[in-house]
Amino acid sequence: MFEADFSVVPRHIAFIMDGNGRWAKARGQERVQGHFAGTQAVIKVVKHAFERGVKYVTLYAFSTENWKRPAAEIDALMSLLVRFLQEHENLFLDNKIRLETIGDLSALPEQVRAGIADLKEKTADFEERTVVVALNYSSRNEILNAAKNYAAAVAAGTESSGTPDWPTFSKYLYTEAIPDPDLIVRTSGELRLSNFLLVQAAYAELYFTRVLWPDFDERELDAALIFYASRERRFGKISEQIQKKTDL
Ligand code: IPE
Ligand code: IPE
Ligand code: MG
Repeated sequence: MFEADFSVVPRHIAFIMDGNGRWAKARGQERVQGHFAGTQAVIKVVKHAFERGVKYVTLYAFSTENWKRPAAEIDALMSLLVRFLQEHENLFLDNKIRLETIGDLSALPEQVRAGIADLKEKTADFEERTVVVALNYSSRNEILNAAKNYAAAVAAGTESSGTPDWPTFSKYLYTEAIPDPDLIVRTSGELRLSNFLLVQAAYAELYFTRVLWPDFDERELDAALIFYASRERRFGKISEQIQKKTDL
């Protein structure tokens, strides 16, 4: 029988959780019901990813562009988030998962910020596993913000002047303490990054599936992991096999 090999797993998987609205529409339901179903998928996927040995899971939950949606949908998304943080606190505590966020939290409703601050504090000492939630996130804003803060540090003399190298500049990104994603998964058949981790994705493997996010489960994650294990990551070098032949 075919035995899947899960010995090579990405250290960091980032998910563009797309298709909640279409999932609901296909069932004659309201979009918000799709978002609720999406939170159920989050639980399954997060648990399974860590069981497979992944260390960081990033979830794109709300983009800066998502403010363009109807107010009722935005409110529902924010309420779902607050509820999720309250009701699934044990997912984090029992599995020793640290909560991190990327994005501009200052524009989020007070209740959301409070819920996040609370769970961040409770999970701050966990080191093995991290869930990063991208909230009011925009990759372009992240870069602009980093440039601004870097320039301010140079002006203040806390950062040396001259051309920055990437390790120095990247410390000013929201992802300062988070390694780059090895694998980016987007559900729902869209083939785009939608302003998500644009610079961190420099050498990520990209996996696109037509499955809608609420239907993405352990099996679908395994399929993405099998895809990942089959890739040869060269980081600009030539294939190892060819290199070996050249060395002979
Ligand atoms: C993704 O599902 C969730 C968020 C962007 C918050 P969508 O709401 O984008 O679902 P579709 O793309 O309309 O199906
Ligand atoms: C990307 O999905 C954002 C999130 C998953 C939070 P969107 O549904 O907002 O992306 P576009 O508009 O189809 O590019
Ligand atoms: Mg969408």
